[in-house]
Amino acid sequence: MKRLPIGILGSGKGSNCRAILERIRSGDLAAEARVVISDVLDAPILDIAREFSVANAFLPSGQFRTRLEPNVENELVNMLREAGVDLVVLAGFMRVLHAPMLKAFPRRIINIHPSLLPKFPGLEAWKQALATGEEVSGCTVHYVDEKIDHGEIIAQHEVRILPDDTPESLHARIQIAERELYPAVIAEFCERYRATGL
Ligand code: GRF
Repeated sequence: MKRLPIGILGSGKGSNCRAILERIRSGDLAAEARVVISDVLDAPILDIAREFSVANAFLPSGQFRTRLEPNVENELVNMLREAGVDLVVLAGFMRVLHAPMLKAFPRRIINIHPSLLPKFPGLEAWKQALATGEEVSGCTVHYVDEKIDHGEIIAQHEVRILPDDTPESLHARIQIAERELYPAVIAEFCERYRATGL
Protein backbone atom coordinates (compact mmCIF):
# COMPACT_ATOMS: atom_id res chain seq x y z
CA MET A 1 0.00 0.00 0.00
CA LYS A 2 1.23 3.52 -0.84
CA ARG A 3 1.84 5.31 2.45
CA LEU A 4 2.11 9.08 2.84
CA PRO A 5 5.54 9.98 4.31
CA ILE A 6 5.02 12.53 7.09
CA GLY A 7 7.29 14.49 9.41
CA ILE A 8 6.00 15.72 12.76
CA LEU A 9 7.32 18.88 14.45
CA GLY A 10 6.55 19.68 18.08
CA SER A 11 7.86 21.48 21.14
CA GLY A 12 6.01 19.82 23.98
CA LYS A 13 3.81 17.11 25.32
CA GLY A 14 3.11 15.32 22.06
CA SER A 15 -0.43 14.07 22.65
CA ASN A 16 -1.36 14.76 19.01
CA CYS A 17 1.83 13.06 17.86
CA ARG A 18 0.95 10.02 19.97
CA ALA A 19 -2.58 9.88 18.53
CA ILE A 20 -1.17 9.98 14.98
CA LEU A 21 1.49 7.32 15.67
CA GLU A 22 -1.11 5.08 17.33
CA ARG A 23 -3.39 5.31 14.28
CA ILE A 24 -0.48 4.47 12.01
CA ARG A 25 0.45 1.49 14.16
CA SER A 26 -3.12 0.20 14.27
CA GLY A 27 -3.35 0.43 10.49
CA ASP A 28 -6.07 3.14 10.51
CA LEU A 29 -3.80 5.69 8.89
CA ALA A 30 -1.96 4.96 5.62
CA ALA A 31 0.95 7.19 6.59
CA GLU A 32 4.53 6.53 7.50
CA ALA A 33 6.14 8.72 10.16
CA ARG A 34 9.62 9.32 8.79
CA VAL A 35 10.86 11.69 11.49
CA VAL A 36 9.84 13.65 14.59
CA ILE A 37 11.75 16.89 15.16
CA SER A 38 11.68 19.18 18.19
CA ASP A 39 13.26 22.52 19.05
CA VAL A 40 13.20 21.48 22.72
CA LEU A 41 15.84 18.98 23.77
CA ASP A 42 13.86 17.28 26.53
CA ALA A 43 10.39 17.57 24.98
CA PRO A 44 8.20 14.53 25.71
CA ILE A 45 7.31 14.39 21.99
CA LEU A 46 10.83 13.06 21.33
CA ASP A 47 10.32 10.30 23.93
CA ILE A 48 7.09 9.38 22.18
CA ALA A 49 8.94 9.10 18.87
CA ARG A 50 11.46 6.77 20.52
CA GLU A 51 8.66 4.72 22.09
CA PHE A 52 7.24 4.18 18.58
CA SER A 53 10.71 3.60 17.07
CA VAL A 54 10.43 6.66 14.83
CA ALA A 55 13.60 8.54 13.85
CA ASN A 56 13.82 11.73 15.88
CA ALA A 57 16.00 14.78 16.21
CA PHE A 58 16.53 17.86 18.33
CA LEU A 59 16.94 21.04 16.31
CA PRO A 60 18.58 23.88 18.31
CA SER A 61 16.58 26.91 17.24
CA GLY A 62 19.21 29.63 17.61
CA GLN A 63 18.89 33.07 19.12
CA PHE A 64 15.23 33.91 18.44
CA ARG A 65 12.30 33.11 20.74
CA THR A 66 9.41 32.66 18.31
CA ARG A 67 11.10 31.67 15.07
CA LEU A 68 14.08 29.72 13.79
CA GLU A 69 17.27 31.37 12.63
CA PRO A 70 17.24 31.31 8.80
CA ASN A 71 20.17 28.90 8.62
CA VAL A 72 18.41 26.63 11.12
CA GLU A 73 15.22 26.74 9.06
CA ASN A 74 17.23 25.74 5.98
CA GLU A 75 18.69 22.89 8.00
CA LEU A 76 15.15 21.83 8.93
CA VAL A 77 14.21 21.75 5.23
CA ASN A 78 17.22 19.54 4.54
CA MET A 79 16.36 17.15 7.37
CA LEU A 80 12.78 16.77 6.16
CA ARG A 81 13.84 16.33 2.54
CA GLU A 82 16.46 13.76 3.46
CA ALA A 83 13.79 11.88 5.37
CA GLY A 84 11.62 11.95 2.21
CA VAL A 85 8.77 13.81 3.93
CA ASP A 86 5.82 14.90 1.75
CA LEU A 87 3.55 16.32 4.46
CA VAL A 88 4.80 18.32 7.46
CA VAL A 89 2.54 18.01 10.50
CA LEU A 90 2.90 20.66 13.20
CA ALA A 91 1.80 19.30 16.56
CA GLY A 92 2.43 21.93 19.21
CA PHE A 93 5.44 23.43 17.41
CA MET A 94 5.97 26.82 19.06
CA ARG A 95 7.89 28.59 16.26
CA VAL A 96 6.51 30.56 13.33
CA LEU A 97 7.77 29.22 10.00
CA HIS A 98 9.08 31.47 7.24
CA ALA A 99 10.19 31.37 3.61
CA PRO A 100 12.61 28.43 3.68
CA MET A 101 9.98 25.99 4.95
CA LEU A 102 6.98 27.58 3.24
CA LYS A 103 8.72 27.60 -0.15
CA ALA A 104 10.06 24.07 0.24
CA PHE A 105 6.67 22.63 1.28
CA PRO A 106 3.92 24.75 -0.35
CA ARG A 107 0.48 23.59 0.92
CA ARG A 108 2.31 20.70 2.52
CA ILE A 109 2.49 22.06 6.09
CA ILE A 110 -0.51 21.77 8.38
CA ASN A 111 -1.17 22.79 11.97
CA ILE A 112 -3.77 22.16 14.65
CA HIS A 113 -4.99 24.93 16.93
CA PRO A 114 -7.31 24.73 19.96
CA SER A 115 -10.00 27.20 18.83
CA LEU A 116 -12.42 27.73 15.99
CA LEU A 117 -10.14 29.94 13.90
CA PRO A 118 -10.15 32.75 12.91
CA LYS A 119 -11.30 33.27 16.51
CA PHE A 120 -8.63 33.21 19.20
CA PRO A 121 -5.26 32.63 17.52
CA GLY A 122 -2.25 32.58 19.85
CA LEU A 123 -1.60 31.10 23.25
CA GLU A 124 -4.15 29.48 25.56
CA ALA A 125 -6.98 29.91 23.09
CA TRP A 126 -9.40 27.94 25.30
CA LYS A 127 -8.97 30.57 28.04
CA GLN A 128 -9.72 33.32 25.56
CA ALA A 129 -12.90 31.53 24.44
CA LEU A 130 -14.07 31.08 28.04
CA ALA A 131 -13.29 34.68 29.01
CA THR A 132 -15.27 36.03 26.05
CA GLY A 133 -18.36 34.06 27.01
CA GLU A 134 -18.49 31.91 23.87
CA GLU A 135 -20.99 29.04 23.85
CA VAL A 136 -18.94 26.90 21.55
CA SER A 137 -15.24 26.48 20.87
CA GLY A 138 -13.24 23.63 19.37
CA CYS A 139 -10.20 23.02 17.24
CA THR A 140 -9.04 23.79 13.71
CA VAL A 141 -6.65 22.16 11.27
CA HIS A 142 -5.27 24.65 8.76
CA TYR A 143 -2.54 25.13 6.19
CA VAL A 144 0.41 27.06 7.61
CA ASP A 145 1.46 30.48 6.37
CA GLU A 146 3.75 33.19 7.77
CA LYS A 147 1.23 34.40 10.36
CA ILE A 148 0.49 32.80 13.70
CA ASP A 149 -2.43 30.31 13.60
CA HIS A 150 -3.48 31.65 10.21
CA GLY A 151 -3.89 30.11 6.79
CA GLU A 152 -6.61 28.30 4.87
CA ILE A 153 -8.84 26.25 7.13
CA ILE A 154 -9.06 22.56 6.28
CA ALA A 155 -11.40 21.24 8.98
CA GLN A 156 -12.87 22.12 12.35
CA HIS A 157 -14.37 20.19 15.25
CA GLU A 158 -16.76 22.02 17.58
CA VAL A 159 -16.74 21.57 21.35
CA ARG A 160 -19.65 22.96 23.36
CA ILE A 161 -18.71 25.16 26.33
CA LEU A 162 -20.56 24.05 29.47
CA PRO A 163 -21.79 26.48 32.15
CA ASP A 164 -19.46 25.06 34.80
CA ASP A 165 -16.41 24.71 32.54
CA THR A 166 -13.01 25.73 33.89
CA PRO A 167 -10.08 26.46 31.57
CA GLU A 168 -8.76 22.99 32.43
CA SER A 169 -11.99 21.09 31.75
CA LEU A 170 -12.57 22.90 28.45
CA HIS A 171 -8.97 22.42 27.36
CA ALA A 172 -9.18 18.69 28.15
CA ARG A 173 -12.29 18.25 25.95
CA ILE A 174 -10.73 20.27 23.12
CA GLN A 175 -7.64 18.06 23.25
CA ILE A 176 -9.82 14.95 22.99
CA ALA A 177 -11.41 16.52 19.89
CA GLU A 178 -7.94 17.31 18.49
CA ARG A 179 -6.90 13.70 18.76
CA GLU A 180 -9.86 12.75 16.58
CA LEU A 181 -9.70 15.62 14.10
CA TYR A 182 -5.99 15.60 13.26
CA PRO A 183 -5.71 11.90 12.31
CA ALA A 184 -8.96 12.23 10.32
CA VAL A 185 -7.57 15.14 8.31
CA ILE A 186 -4.27 13.35 7.74
CA ALA A 187 -6.25 10.31 6.57
CA GLU A 188 -7.77 12.51 3.84
CA PHE A 189 -4.27 13.56 2.73
CA CYS A 190 -3.29 9.87 2.70
CA GLU A 191 -6.28 9.03 0.54
CA ARG A 192 -5.43 11.80 -1.93
CA TYR A 193 -1.78 10.73 -1.95
CA ARG A 194 -2.75 7.15 -2.71
CA ALA A 195 -5.15 8.17 -5.46
CA THR A 196 -3.37 10.97 -7.28
CA GLY A 197 -0.30 12.09 -5.31
CA LEU A 198 -0.49 15.22 -3.16
C1 GRF B 1 -2.35 21.40 20.96
O1 GRF B 1 -3.38 21.80 21.82
C2 GRF B 1 -2.41 22.14 19.66
O2 GRF B 1 -3.68 22.57 19.35
C3 GRF B 1 -1.51 23.33 19.88
O3 GRF B 1 -0.51 22.84 20.72
C4 GRF B 1 -1.00 21.79 21.51
C5 GRF B 1 -0.02 20.66 21.43
O4 GRF B 1 -0.34 19.64 22.31
N1 GRF B 1 -1.04 23.85 18.63
P1 GRF B 1 0.42 18.26 22.21
O5 GRF B 1 1.91 18.56 22.31
O6 GRF B 1 0.04 17.62 20.91
O7 GRF B 1 -0.07 17.48 23.40
